[in-house]
Amino acid sequence: MSQALEAKVEPETVLEWIKRIGSDSSSTVPLLQAVQSEYGYLPRAAMDLIVKNSDITGRQVYGVATFYSQFRLKPVGRHIIKICHGTACHVSGADRLNTSLRHLLNIDDEEQDTAENGSYTIEQVACIGCCSQAPVMVISDEVSGNLTGANAQRALKKHAKKSEEVVANL
Ligand code: FES
Repeated sequence: MSQALEAKVEPETVLEWIKRIGSDSSSTVPLLQAVQSEYGYLPRAAMDLIVKNSDITGRQVYGVATFYSQFRLKPVGRHIIKICHGTACHVSGADRLNTSLRHLLNIDDEEQDTAENGSYTIEQVACIGCCSQAPVMVISDEVSGNLTGANAQRALKKHAKKSEEVVANL
């Protein structure tokens, strides 16, 4: 992940949350929710500040951060692409959509899911309830179905044009 996508954490902001929300272990979830609502994910610097300035241990903070799927540990793009990997979509080619879009966004590191310029993040999600149109993806709130790799790329190009985002391999 590019360092450029990492959020700049202001210590005063985190200290203010600890003061307002609480500093014992029962405040772990609301504190992490405040962090994620501000930065879109949980920057390591913010979690370290919580550990240093409260009674919450590193084990508790990292345990909660990794246990709940609502929390993200990596920066997220300005737009989210959800590719359904439920059974119907999986057997209809969800992996092809994933490969085509990752190529278009030039995300070649398997550990990463966000384009280097912070434009799009690709997420794999469970069934979104449109199985008759499998394989399906959602860009922001727009659902597209019956996709091939090529028309998934077209849908992304169209979205990028409308949103004035730069897509690496256009
Ligand atoms: S499996 Fe993808 S929409 Fe149901």
